[in-house]
Formats: sequence, structure tokens, C-alpha cells
Amino acid sequence: MRSFSGRTAVVTGAGSGIGRALAHELARRGAKVAASDVDVAGLEATVTAITELGGTARGWSLNVTEAHAVEAHAAEVVATFGSADLVINNAGVALAARAVEQTTKEVTKVVDVDLLGVVHGTQAFLPYLLASGDGHLVNISSLFGLVAMPYNSAYNAAKFGVRGYTESIAIELAAARAPVGVTCVHPGGVATAIAQNAERPAHNDGLATAFEQALRMPPHRAATIILRGVQRGRRRQLVGADAWALHVGQTLLGARWMDVMGVLGRQVVPRHAA
Ligand SMILES: NC(=O)c1ccc[n+]([C@@H]2O[C@H](COP(=O)([O-])OP(=O)(O)OC[C@H]3O[C@@H](n4cnc5c(N)ncnc54)[C@H](O)[C@@H]3O)[C@@H](O)[C@H]2O)c1
Repeated sequence: MRSFSGRTAVVTGAGSGIGRALAHELARRGAKVAASDVDVAGLEATVTAITELGGTARGWSLNVTEAHAVEAHAAEVVATFGSADLVINNAGVALAARAVEQTTKEVTKVVDVDLLGVVHGTQAFLPYLLASGDGHLVNISSLFGLVAMPYNSAYNAAKFGVRGYTESIAIELAAARAPVGVTCVHPGGVATAIAQNAERPAHNDGLATAFEQALRMPPHRAATIILRGVQRGRRRQLVGADAWALHVGQTLLGARWMDVMGVLGRQVVPRHAA
């Protein structure tokens, strides 16, 4: 997909952060934006800002964990705008907690939103992307979908899952010579509300602080990189120098990555806390 002008772009989790920046940037480039989120106030702010600048956007209240609602949403988007050409499954939640502390409810929520939310969006929209004739699917994983990080076991599981799911579909569509591009996105730290919106409130120790300090890149910069990846037909798009550095480090170290991270983790966690 070389140009977004006149195309219908679907963005989940568009009420904040990277999703909002993607919605803004797509509208600025002439796309008709179907924005959705569970956070209706955040979503309204995104849509209002776009329309005030003369762009085209409509907001849908949508919980990506509800497969039937996502399916109905896909049909409504196509009924409203005539097609679905670019779908960005972006909605997500974080959970930074030691494995012994996190509850089954918290883990289930992270997997439901971050992995199954992506699956629901893909399943619901794929027939329309195929019908578009020049469709593109973008699933937002994370740097944590490439490298394992301590205190992120549930998030790692979901984001590694997004990568496996997305790459399998990319191969499947390429083998079938289907007219749909696929990009799996792996952002490093982006300065959004993800830490505040996380499943578990911040700890009063170095753990939460360490993660929040890593969130540096402005969301609009992340959006620009993601859209460039789409235009270049990239299968895998890393976002940020931190993502590249840790990905290369993990690739070079192989399984010894876990030993190195274990030593680094000692800097932020008291002895025996795990
Ligand atoms: N910020 C980062 O450093 C970073 C790094 C790597 C990956 N990511 C990923 O990028 C994506 C966007 O995150 P962000 O940083 O913009 O966070 P954010 O918290 O600012 O935005 C996430 C949005 O998703 C929405 N959302 C949450 N659960 C939902 C649900 N069930 N249904 C629909 N919408 C839901 C939230 O309401 C929010 O508006 C996520 O998938 C996240 O995992 C972020």
C-alpha cells in the first residue's frame, strides 16, 4: 500500500497513545479512519481532533475481547465507508508484575486483549481486506514479542503469540498470492499512557519506575515509522533504537540472553523477591 489517501483505515485502541497518533496521521494523509476503543471519552477526543482539522473519522465504542462485537464492527465499517483497506490491531494493555504475584484474572485479561483481541480483529476483517484488492493487515506486537523480559511473563506470552499468529498468516497469504500485505510491529518504549493504564497499579519499587523511564519515543514518531513500514511492505517493523539494540542483543546471545537479563534484573529487584 503506497498511499493512504481515500482508503479506509481501521484502528483499534485509538483513544490514546500509538493508536491515536496512527488515527491522526492516517487522517492527515487522506484516509477515512474507523477509530475504536473501550475508552469512549478518549475515542471522542481523537475523532473530534481529526474532524476539526478537516479529516474524515468515525468512532466506534468497541471491546476487542468480544469476538461477535468485532465481527459486527467490521460489517458496520464497510457499510459506512465502502471498504476496509488497512486494519491496525493496536489495542493493548500492559502488566508488569512478578509471576508469583500476578493473578489468573490479570493474566487472562492481558491474553484476552493483547492476543485474542488481535485474533478477533484479524478474523473479522480479513475477508474485507481480501476483497479490497490491495489490503494491509498490521498487528501491533512489541519489542516484548521478540525478547523475553523479566516481570512481563503474561505480556511476553501474549506479544510472542501475536508475532507467531501474524507471521503464520503472512506466509499463508503469500503462499496463496493473496493481495494483502501483513506487518507485525515491535515497538520499543513509546511515551504513552500504557504504564498508567496497566492491569496492575505501579509498585513502589524500582520495577515500575524502570519501565516508565524506558517509554521515550513520542507516539507520532512511532506512527510515522509504522506507516512507512506499511508503505514499504515490511513483514516485521521494529520501532526505536531500543527495540533494535535489544533484538540484536538477543539474537547474538541466543538462550544466554536469560542469564544476562537475570543479572541486570538484580539492579531493580530486591534479593529473593521473585
Ligand atoms: N507504549 C509502548 O512503549 C509500547 C511498546 C510496545 C508495544 N506497545 C503496544 O502498542 C499498543 C498501543 O499501546 P499504547 O502504548 O498506545 O497504550 P495506551 O494505553 O496509551 O493505549 C492503548 C489503548 O487501547 C485501549 N484498550 C485497552 N483495552 C481495550 C479493549 N479491550 N478493547 C478496545 N480497546 C482497548 C485503551 O483504552 C487505550 O486507549 C498496545 O498493543 C501496546 O501493547 C506499546
